[in-house]
Amino acid sequence: MELKNKLVVITGAARGIGRAIALHLANKGAKLAIIDLDVDAMNEVVKEIEALGTQAKAYICNISEETTVENTFEQIVKDFGHLDGLVNNAGVLRDGQLIKVKDGKVVKKMSADFFDLVVDVHMKGAFLCAREAASHMVSLGADEGVIINMSSMSYQGNFGQTNYSAAKAGMVSMSNVWSKELGRYNIRSMAIAPGTIETDMLRSMPQDALDGLTSQVPLRRIGNVKNIAQAVEQIFNNDYLSGSVIEVNGGLRV
Ligand code: NAI
Repeated sequence: MELKNKLVVITGAARGIGRAIALHLANKGAKLAIIDLDVDAMNEVVKEIEALGTQAKAYICNISEETTVENTFEQIVKDFGHLDGLVNNAGVLRDGQLIKVKDGKVVKKMSADFFDLVVDVHMKGAFLCAREAASHMVSLGADEGVIINMSSMSYQGNFGQTNYSAAKAGMVSMSNVWSKELGRYNIRSMAIAPGTIETDMLRSMPQDALDGLTSQVPLRRIGNVKNIAQAVEQIFNNDYLSGSVIEVNGGLRV
């Protein structure tokens, strides 16, 4: 897909990887609808995108809430008149082991609330946004469409991440389903599974913890947000990419 003047919706684009994807695609001439809960940070991103000479608009939306997502996508289509791509990127972490044992006793369990929250934001959020995006793409008679789910290398099952790993595996699986169901409308669906990427959270880690993390990566360096934005651009550009996962991890496996 030629990105110039296309409208791409990105969730969780107020900061981190989502913001980097938004700016990268704006640099290629795409228009952006950015969705997040943090209105101030989103407004800053909109200004940065406009400074690049293209259009952007911010939408406050909790992607886990069905009616809110439906209304937000209605509004996006009203504002821009078309919808060409979606990047399901918003996310949260609530790590913890299934059970924690000390001296033979179970001292902690992963709470159902932590499980629900992570699954709701990643998996249900991606499902709702993709459903609305695909509905509008088909109803508007778009020639082509692209849906990308931001998974994680944790989709293979990472220690201490029952909730996150399950949600990220679900995002890969849903992406495969959508490639089969939506291919007939020329809507392609892909997942990206980043490894460890340098974001604010990572930058705030103690240096020795960061060094430990870096030493596990075969390339001996942490990835950056640009590496992920480049993978997104590649998916838009290559019109035979559908139904698979691009792993961007420097060789690291969980
Ligand atoms: P981040 O925490 O910096 O940004 C996530 C954004 O999502 C925030 O702006 C937040 O406000 C928004 N958000 C959270 N819940 C939301 C909701 N219910 N509705 C709307 N917006 C919501 O995250 P980061 O590091 O930029 O990661 C982006 C994506 O990449 C996430 O899905 C994450 O799981 C995934 N990922 C990140 C990796 C990393 O090393 N940073 C590695 C692998 C995957």
